[in-house]
Amino acid sequence: MVVTLIGYRGSGKSSVARLLAERLGWAFRDADVELEERAGKTIREIFADDSETVFRDLEEEVITDLLTHDRLVLATGGGAVLRKTTRERLQSAGPVIWLTASAETLYQRIHADETTGERRPDLTDQGGLLEVQSLLSERKPVYQQASSIVVETEGKSVVQIADAIWDALKNEEGWAI
Ligand code: S3P
Repeated sequence: MVVTLIGYRGSGKSSVARLLAERLGWAFRDADVELEERAGKTIREIFADDSETVFRDLEEEVITDLLTHDRLVLATGGGAVLRKTTRERLQSAGPVIWLTASAETLYQRIHADETTGERRPDLTDQGGLLEVQSLLSERKPVYQQASSIVVETEGKSVVQIADAIWDALKNEEGWAI
């Protein structure tokens, strides 16, 4: 079984996934890190030298490979569930947890994160808060559809978010830990 964390950039997927994996005694993998290792360049470079489509193809490939593992907590990139095939694969591997927050909070967290420069190229011409607002409203139905558990992260610490997931996982039908 693989527990996957999804949600927009800045929702806390990687930090929470790492902590959750520690608690479960499972492995933790970050699909973006894995992808950069495989490509031998940063996500920003892939977008600049190749294209977003090349990045999305690689992302799908990396996630498909990671899903062959068992007892894994997987942090995905914010756009990983845009592809239906990836959504379906994640759903059949285990619980999919959507971490939510407001566009303003996400923007602030993205801005404060030092990995943003290398890992988070602009996805539209807008950039900034406007990009977060428009892409988040576009993606919300996709995150909703992809997830079996929704956890609000606004005003919560990483530990509190992991606690909330832990409680939800205990009651997750078919996938209880
Ligand atoms: C993306 C989110 C990023 C990374 C890439 C594209 C997106 O991951 O995969 O920049 O489309 O939302 P994080 O959600 O970890 O920032």
